[in-house]
Amino acid sequence: MKAIFYRRFGDADVMEYGDLPEPKMGPSSVLVRVKAAAVNPLDWKAREGLYDSLMDAVFPVVPGIDFSGVVERVGFGVRDLAPGDEVMGCVPNDEYLSRGTVAELTSAPARCVIRKPSVMSWAEAAAFPLVGLSAYQSVSHLAVRDGEVLLVHGAAGGVGSMAVQYATHLGARVIGTASEHNHEFLRSLGAEPIDYRRGLAESVAALAPGGVDAVLDASGKRTLRAVAPLLKQGGRLASVADPAVRSAGGTYVFVRPIAGDLQKMVTLAERGTMRSQISAVYPLEKAVEAFRESQAGHARGKIVVAVGCAPSEM
Ligand SMILES: NC(=O)c1ccc[n+]([C@@H]2O[C@H](COP(=O)([O-])OP(=O)(O)OC[C@H]3O[C@@H](n4cnc5c(N)ncnc54)[C@H](OP(=O)(O)O)[C@@H]3O)[C@@H](O)[C@H]2O)c1
Repeated sequence: MKAIFYRRFGDADVMEYGDLPEPKMGPSSVLVRVKAAAVNPLDWKAREGLYDSLMDAVFPVVPGIDFSGVVERVGFGVRDLAPGDEVMGCVPNDEYLSRGTVAELTSAPARCVIRKPSVMSWAEAAAFPLVGLSAYQSVSHLAVRDGEVLLVHGAAGGVGSMAVQYATHLGARVIGTASEHNHEFLRSLGAEPIDYRRGLAESVAALAPGGVDAVLDASGKRTLRAVAPLLKQGGRLASVADPAVRSAGGTYVFVRPIAGDLQKMVTLAERGTMRSQISAVYPLEKAVEAFRESQAGHARGKIVVAVGCAPSEM
């Protein structure tokens, strides 16, 4: 099968496009013929070896966590899915790094796979799982309520743009940080934009003089020190991007691939409450460029790789 892969840690130049054997499939997994895969910052961090002390890498490593596609075969322990089902989901890489989704075939644990709703395109479905789960689990952890003010730092990115939509759906007022060129985009999602490069504290104070009820850091970039003081007394703080949040009294949310959580967010998407934000679609053979773009750190929503169909058919 055709795939993107790397045989050693390094920058984007270590990535190759070529042929690999089909992945093996465990008894509780499904083999999926991939239509689209999404790119996440976790991919380049893993490729650069930043998680090498946490998990073993089995080279060649195929990057990619999210996918949409069609079930080709199911493991003998799988009852709820069958060949031909149109699905979406993720391949968690929290224990070891090996076979991801930027390939013609991927093997995914059935517990991380749900049916793709017909209203979602292949690209929208691939763009959804990791950031949808991250947004759902972090906003839920913060227990954001109707009428509260949530500050989302890095609001135009994959996680941030989902968190803005979900918190707005819950009735929160959302202030989102982004570069100036993403401000109109943030307004379209329901957030009040501010520029993180220009006096963050003053901008937040102008919009929420008493401070904010909760902060979600979806950016990292060592900005926790800047956003933590913007909380009201007793306010809640969480980060998906920086484990150091714990020393600032907050919680580091590490995404858990729970199909039930993903299904809740996808149900909102079916009702038109949430949608995937896709900034670019690359063909599989040019996917290395997609990883370079993601690593540049200014993606608006998601970058998607078209695998089993042309970018124009996404
Ligand atoms: N813990 C977990 O399980 C988990 C899950 C998913 C993601 N993550 C992590 O969460 C982070 C965000 O992921 P993502 O997929 O949303 O990334 P992304 O799509 O690349 O978005 C990152 C956003 O950060 C903004 N940004 C760049 N520089 C910034 C700065 N100096 N200050 C504030 N914002 C800045 C960019 O906005 P502008 O273009 O407007 O500047 C961009 O939209 C990454 O570090 C990722 O690895 C962790």
